[in-house]
This record gives sequence, structure tokens and C-alpha cells, in this order.
Amino acid sequence: MPVNDSDLFLSLPRRSSAPTSRSEDHLAEERQRNFRRTWQEHISPVTVGSDDFEEFYEEAARLDAAVYAFLPRRVWMAEYGTRTARNLGTGEVVPIDQVWHLRRYGGQPHTRDTGVPVVSSEPAVERYHEFTAFTEHAGRPVLVAGYDIDGRGLELIDAVRQVAGAGYSKVVVKITRAKYGITMLDVTADMTDQDIEDALLEGLDWALVSQGGKPGAFLVQGFVGMTHEYRVFVVNGLPVTGAGCIVAHTPANHRWEQFDSRMQEHRGDPTSPIVDDEALVRRLVAFAAKVAKQWQQERPDLGTAVIDVALDEQGEPLVVEFNGILNAGLYASDPRAVTVALAAHQVLPALEPLNPVVGFTAGTRQPREV
Ligand SMILES: Nc1ncnc2c1ncn2[C@@H]1O[C@H](COP(=O)(O)OP(=O)(O)OP(=O)(O)O)[C@@H](O)[C@H]1O
Ligand SMILES: [Mg+2]
Repeated sequence: MPVNDSDLFLSLPRRSSAPTSRSEDHLAEERQRNFRRTWQEHISPVTVGSDDFEEFYEEAARLDAAVYAFLPRRVWMAEYGTRTARNLGTGEVVPIDQVWHLRRYGGQPHTRDTGVPVVSSEPAVERYHEFTAFTEHAGRPVLVAGYDIDGRGLELIDAVRQVAGAGYSKVVVKITRAKYGITMLDVTADMTDQDIEDALLEGLDWALVSQGGKPGAFLVQGFVGMTHEYRVFVVNGLPVTGAGCIVAHTPANHRWEQFDSRMQEHRGDPTSPIVDDEALVRRLVAFAAKVAKQWQQERPDLGTAVIDVALDEQGEPLVVEFNGILNAGLYASDPRAVTVALAAHQVLPALEPLNPVVGFTAGTRQPREV
């Protein structure tokens, strides 16, 4: 069966066996069983072991979503170890470079590890601080700076002082490359440049040094106490599904709500309660929809991303960050809604050019967006 441009390239780099079931409620157990069956049908028998629960069920949910919307005969799954892709309907195997131009779904490992080019929209979305749709809805000052950049832009320490001077005694510094590091500093008027630099080094460690000399490597933000963080999956400018940023939730917890109505007050804090509030979710999703619409007008070349939103200390919505859709954690969202929307728009992605010499290794890992 020839590769067709309407097919899907599916990347499941973390492939592993299933962890022991987590007994929550009848629906979650049934969903876990279904995910294991889908895995078994298309990949391999599931041996229940001690693998990471979220990782297995997220990968299985991606597989399920791909075959649901595209049907197995239109899904080519990457086999990075052999640089091939396998058709999930027919079992046909082709060299991976015959399918990497297709629309893509699933977690993306580095080109370095696989030789597969990056979909250009992903790094473009990582530079979300360049979007006015973000800066106008960030609910806090956000400055782009560089460390030790000899006048080639705003210096990191000056940026920290500027944000503090705007009335923020706590300043958040994040490296603009995804997953490189984030830290929070307490800034007081009597701090010297050396004090600020020491605090940055303590918080960011090697990441600070590695980004030295690079203009635009840091995002300096005022600290805002954020609650009810919520992830909205946006495809072609429209929210299609979403879920609260609850670390323990995966699509095995999905309850057939397009936008899961559960959120945690303080993300990642095990003592923080989980609240179920449909009205608040409607408000957060409406806010994300407005941001997404503005973003699509600003960047018609983009439009697909996850937008994390939250409430500020006054209970007003703000944008936490944008992430590329491929490596973003799923929580209790409905990944099928994402693949159905992807299937409806048959535009092939732009790819980053490959360096002439690309080394790759089989076992692939990539940072995980949670
Ligand atoms: N300006 C800020 N003020 C207060 N808290 C913040 C701020 N920016 C981010 N945070 C908190 O830090 C978390 C991580 O920030 P962000 O999502 O921007 O970085 P990240 O690199 O994607 O990290 P993660 O993978 O943990 O999401 C947010 O989910 C939010 O809880
Ligand atoms: Mg994040």
C-alpha cells in the first residue's frame, strides 16, 4: 500500500510495558483495560510491570487517538531502532524518510536521536513570548533577556531589576528553550548585581552557564500566585479538548467531557484539593479561545498548540505558557478530539532542514512536559 499524503506519522518514543492498574473507579479501570487492548492489537502483548503509569497510559492514549481518527491503515508508526515506519493496518514497513513529511502526532524525540526532522511549528510555539496573544494576556510583566551578552540586548540582571522595580518582590526566570529550567528569586532593593547573579546561579545552576552569551535565552517574569492551572488543546485556532493540570491524571481518567471539569488549586502540590467546577472551566476555556483566536490572526502560519491558563491572585484568567502539541502531557483530556481535528485539516507540516550529518541512536528519550 503506497504512502498517501492524507496518512498520519505516529511517534511513540517512550514505548514500554504497562504498569500495574490503578484502581480508581469503574470507568478509569475500564479505560485502562481498553488502552491495554489497543496496545496489544497494534504494538505488542502488554506485560504488566513496574513502568511509569502516566507514561504508559499517555502513549497508549496517543496510539488509540491516532487509530481512532485516521483508522489503522492510514497510520505509520515510527520504529526508530530500524529507521522504518510500520503501517498499523497492513503491517507494511517503509523507510522512515518516506513518511516523515506526513501530519504528525505523538511524542517527538530529538532529531539528534532519530534523524527525523522537527516539525517547524513546535520550536516556533516554544518562542511563545514573541506572541502578543501571550504578552497581552500574561497578567504579569515578561521581559526577554540574555546573560553576559555584551550589549546585544537586555542583560538578565537588568531585566530582573526592571521586573522587581515594577512592583514584584518575587521574580521568575525561565530559560526560553523548553524544559531547560525555571527558578524564582526574592529580590530586594539592597541586592547588588553579584547578589542577583549568585541567586540566579543557585536557582539555575549549570543551565545559567550553558545559556551564557545567548541573547534572548531567558524569560524574566513577575511572580503571580497561580491557581487552577488548566491545559487547553488548540488545533487550527480552536480549543478542541482540555483538562486541569493534575499530575496524576492521564486520559485513563477522562470522563467523556470535552473539557474535563476537574482542576487542582495548586499545581503539583499533593496537599492541594482537586475541585470540580464546570463554570470555572467554561470561563478558562472561553479565555483560551479568545487568546487562540488572536494568536491565529497574529500568526496564520501557526494555530496548533496547547495553551496553559490559570487564575491569578484576583481570580482573573491569565496565560501561563504555550507548548507545542506533540510532546505536551495529556492529563485527563480527550486525545481523540485532537486527532479528529488534525484529520480534518489536510495540510502537510513544514519541517526544519536537516543538518547534513545527523547522528542518531536507537533508545530515545525526550523531556516530558507535565
Ligand atoms: N510568573 C510566574 N509566577 C508564578 N508562578 C509561575 C510563573 N510562571 C510559571 N509559574 C509556575 O511554574 C510552573 C512552570 O512554569 P512553565 O509552565 O512556564 O515552565 P515549564 O518549563 O513548562 O515547566 P513545567 O514543565 O513544570 O510546566 C507553572 O505551571 C506555574 O505553576
Ligand atoms: Mg509548563
